[in-house]
Amino acid sequence: MKYKRVLLKLSGEALMGNKGFGIDNDRLMQYAKEIKTVSESGVEIAIVIGGGNIFRGVQASEGGMERTQGDYMGMLATMINSMALQAALESIGLQTRLQSAIEMKEIAEPFIRRKAVRHLERGRIVIFGAGTGNPFFTTDSAASLRAIEIEANVILKGTRVDGIYSADPEKDPEATKFNQISFDEVYDMGLNVMDLTAFTLCKENNLPIIVFDMNTPGNLYNLVQGEEVGTLVDA
Ligand code: GTP
Repeated sequence: MKYKRVLLKLSGEALMGNKGFGIDNDRLMQYAKEIKTVSESGVEIAIVIGGGNIFRGVQASEGGMERTQGDYMGMLATMINSMALQAALESIGLQTRLQSAIEMKEIAEPFIRRKAVRHLERGRIVIFGAGTGNPFFTTDSAASLRAIEIEANVILKGTRVDGIYSADPEKDPEATKFNQISFDEVYDMGLNVMDLTAFTLCKENNLPIIVFDMNTPGNLYNLVQGEEVGTLVDA
């Protein structure tokens, strides 16, 4: 295998599947099985999942709600997704631990970096919920931060598209896909990989990012084995 420890970032929207809201159980189980094959191959996996299928803080603030309030509600939404994913992973026999950036002891361990690393070393899948615990940060930022903290080899950003394109492939038929691109090229071309806070954190800490299509079965496994899947962003 190419990577020893990875941080997988999943979007909350992806969990909706074809539903308009909430969690689609088939999609959830599909993801759990993809994660299982990777975990069983010996790769240590940490996961951060968004909450946009349940609540989006930014949209709420556009509707007049204070931004901080909306962001905290979004963090709680990520906890709901994290708990659903934890249950799905455990239902197929995987060991997991859920750590929350906002203390809620009755349902999750608090985020303790050294404990998270120990869980990973023991083969447990660690899910980090509640974002960074701070408003004004996205779950992409939480993913970058946690990946750096646990010294992951790479951050795997699962999306609906199969990589980074020169333009939005859903709008521009001329768009071409990059197999590999540097951090500086992403800035220069103004490409939208992650929000800039999250992206800069990766660049400054030399953490490679792979953007890939999480909905294609086998992709996750193939890429941790070193196959060229999606787009690799590195120095
Ligand atoms: P080791 O230290 O490697 O043995 O890890 P462990 O997670 O098995 O040990 P621990 O005794 O800390 O945890 C046992 C169980 O309790 C695990 O399922 C943890 O996720 C859970 N747990 C630990 N701390 C907390 C907490 O603060 N809140 C909640 N809700 N669960 C916790």
